[in-house]
Formats: sequence, structure tokens, C-alpha cells
Amino acid sequence: MSLLELDGVKVHFPIKKGIFVDRTVGHVYAVDGVSLKVEAGETYGLVGESGCGKTTLGRSVLRLVDITEGSVVLDGTDLAKLPGEEMRRFRRRLQMVFQDPLGSLNPRQNIESILSEGMVAHGIGKDQEERREKIKSILEKVGLPSNALARYPHEFSGGQRQRIGIARALVLEPDVIICDEPVSALDVSVQAQVINLLDELQEELGLTYVVIAHDLAVVRHISDTIGVMYLGSLVEEAQSDALYAEPKHPYTKALMSAVPVPDPEVEDKRERILLTGDLPSPANPPAGCRFHTRCPWAQAERCATERPELRDVGGGHRVACHFADEIAAGTLKRTAGEVVSATREGVDDNPTPDDSATPAVPQQAASPERETTPEQAEAGSEAQAEGKPEVAEAAAEGPEPAAEPAEPAEKSDSDGKAEKTEKADGAEADGAEKSDDAEPAPKADDAKPAESAEKAG
Ligand SMILES: Nc1ncnc2c1ncn2[C@@H]1O[C@H](COP(=O)(O)OP(=O)(O)OP(=O)(O)O)[C@@H](O)[C@H]1O
Ligand code: SF4
Ligand SMILES: [Mg+2]
Repeated sequence: MSLLELDGVKVHFPIKKGIFVDRTVGHVYAVDGVSLKVEAGETYGLVGESGCGKTTLGRSVLRLVDITEGSVVLDGTDLAKLPGEEMRRFRRRLQMVFQDPLGSLNPRQNIESILSEGMVAHGIGKDQEERREKIKSILEKVGLPSNALARYPHEFSGGQRQRIGIARALVLEPDVIICDEPVSALDVSVQAQVINLLDELQEELGLTYVVIAHDLAVVRHISDTIGVMYLGSLVEEAQSDALYAEPKHPYTKALMSAVPVPDPEVEDKRERILLTGDLPSPANPPAGCRFHTRCPWAQAERCATERPELRDVGGGHRVACHFADEIAAGTLKRTAGEVVSATREGVDDNPTPDDSATPAVPQQAASPERETTPEQAEAGSEAQAEGKPEVAEAAAEGPEPAAEPAEPAEKSDSDGKAEKTEKADGAEADGAEKSDDAEPAPKADDAKPAESAEKAG
């Protein structure tokens, strides 16, 4: 049995309408029947364009959203059915690392307090002394100095903050870490450092990861197995090398065709599959194959009416396409789309799922309330995630950032500062960022209050 097994997981969000009484007028089919297995010690990479349900799937594993249907089995226990208190205990074994390292760290808590919080909630360490020692050793593992303990999130660069996010997960000794876009907010050179760190930690601690990312290169580098999602379902899944060598689903083919190849000879001959049509709304997904409205190989009738199963087409390579074999053999004619030379003028090359297709899901995909929903608060602390208001409140009322900068950095707003700091990281040698590359703290009231703090209060 695999460490983590999802079977037919569905997460449907009700769409409510009404002034006095809320009526459910439909559903957003964010995740619509996903089955996958993650082996212990391995990394499962999840890709797909914006709004296809990656984050919702990750959150469903931690039961941060209600699972409409299906099972999530961790080490033999179905989490979907666990009562709240038992789920709370299991949540220690499942941790999440978020995209926005600053937004997910409470700016009013110092690093020791942020990292201790979950440990206290889960009864790890007999006293603060013991917890501090453990935190120090984890900080060392993630390449941060132990004097980071007394500092505040805004005193660190973007890459360092993401290391803090990883450390926060690690102190709880999880079995599985779900990394949701762990490097997409970071400068490119820092991205590599964080990915390498995840890799090293996995080797050293035997961790299991689910890595959600837009960047196909990131997922390829780190994943053993890759799953490609489209409109709430997996359309293809294979070992990383096999998927990159020969993508079999038309959607994956289109994504991969957008990735430039380093070899100039191959690059010159590369063909780009251009998809037509917009990504349909997950509130109103097409019948039959969800991809048939954009698929270059869609065949009338069958593709529009019969939903393809994710089936093994050999060697564990799973594809949800009625015609995967014919497409691979080149015996099925294209019915739509365009295949052009990737180097043709005007063909926009960009190896991200988002850009291989026309703009994303209807803008509800980026619904503002979703951006600030529990995730940020949960990210702020384990206690918040588990609805422990007393700890969360204490967090919000925690010590104010103490130190004024000894020597303020070039004045700029906090966004500008973050960017600058990441660049500074990039200029560092390969290794971990050093503590002294952290910029001096801006004035306390300059610090942007992260949503986590607000939620906590
Ligand atoms: N709490 C919610 N209530 C209603 N709809 C939601 C909620 N959370 C997510 N959705 C919707 O579910 C769909 C999938 O969203 P999700 O965030 O999982 O996508 P994603 O693949 O992670 O996208 P991105 O790559 O942009 O992060 C979107 O249409 C989104 O608007
Ligand atoms: S089932 Fe039909 S529409 Fe769907 S991917 Fe295959 S060929 Fe395209
Ligand atoms: Mg997401």
C-alpha cells in the first residue's frame, strides 16, 4: 500500500445566491474525481493551468476543505472520514508549504514563536527549552542561523522566508509535505536553492512530497511521478522521465510543446501545438471529455459524450484519452488547433501551463475571498489551522518587532524591498543564504501586516 492514496476525490463548492436566504444555484467542480498514489519517500508533482484545482486538491488532503466524495488514505487511515479531533492529530503528519512565504508567516511573531506554535499544539517537546533546541537543529538543516530565532519574518529575504516555511513544517516531523507553488514567488536563482534544499531534506529525512507548480521545469527536476490536471481531473500521470520523453495526452502534448529545448538543433525543429478556445468554467464543465472543446484531435460524438477513464497505456503511464494509442501511432487526424514551428515569429514560447493556453478560468478562479481564505490563516500557524483561537490570539498579540534597523536599507516600500533582497540572495554563491544577507528590519509600522495576523486577531 502506498503512503498516501486518493480515490475518486471530489470537491464541489456550492454557488450560493439570494438576498435573505442563500440558495445553492450550482457548483464549482474544483476537483472532480481524482485518484492517485504517492509512495513513501517520493515526490509527486502536480501541474495544470490556473484554476484547474491543484490547490483545492492539496487542501483536501489536509481536510482544509470539505471533501464532497472519495477517500484520502494516509498510511491506511481514511482521513475523509475522521472526526475533527482525530484529524487534528493526523494533521501533524501532513504539512503544507505555501507559495507566499511572507503572507503565510505572522509578522508579529518571531521565528521561535512561529515554529514553536505547532509543536505546542501537538505536544512536541516537554518544555520550551527542548523545543528551542529542536528548532535550532531544524534551522541549521534548512540553512538558517540559530540567531534567526529572535528575529521577525520581515527581517529575512524571500528565499529565507521560504526556508522558515519549510522549517515550520519540518519541526512537526511530518510524513508528507504538500508544497503549493513553493518557489513561484521567488527570484529564479533563489528558486534553485530552495528546490535543492527540498531535495536534500528528502534524502536526509525520507520525506514524501506532493509538489504543486506551474513551472514544468520545477516539477520535472524534483518529481518521481507527475500528474497533469485539467478542469478538476487528472488527464495524464507517469514517471517524470516517461512523461517528458513522450507525453501522450493531447493537453500534455500541448503543454510540453511550449517548453524550449536547450539543444539548438532540436529546438530548431520543435513544433508547437497551439490550442484553440478558452478554458471552460469549472462551474459548467463540458460533457464527455473535459478537454474536447480545445483538443486538436477531438473526434465528434465519442469525445463530446463519453468521459474517458484514466487508464494504463503501458508501464504505469496513465492517460485519460479515448484515442491515446492512435494519437501516439500517428493514425488519428487532427481536427482542430494548429501545429506550427516553435521558432516561428509570433509564437510565444513560455513553458508554463498558464501560457500554453488562453487565459485562465473565469475570474472567479482568482476570487479575492479565496486568496484570503483560511489558507493564509492556517499557514500562519498550526493552531490557527486547527481553530485554536486562544493560541492564535496570543500569536496576534505577540511581541512587536523590537529592533529598529541598525542601518536602514535603501528606503523603499516593503514590496520593493523584498525584490531587492531576493536579488541579493541570487548574487550569493550556491550555498544557503547567509543570515547576514537579511536586510535590517524596516520600522515596525512599515511592515506590511500579513493576512494571517489579521485572521488570527
Ligand atoms: N473556497 C472556494 N469557494 C468557491 N470556489 C473555490 C474555492 N476555492 C477554489 N475555488 C474554485 O475552484 C477552482 C480551482 O481552484 P484552485 O485554487 O484549486 O486552482 P489552482 O489549480 O490551484 O489554480 P492556481 O494555479 O491559480 O493556483 C477555481 O475555479 C476556484 O475559483
Ligand atoms: S478523448 Fe478525445 S477530446 Fe479527449 S483528449 Fe482524447 S481525443 Fe481529445
Ligand atoms: Mg493554486
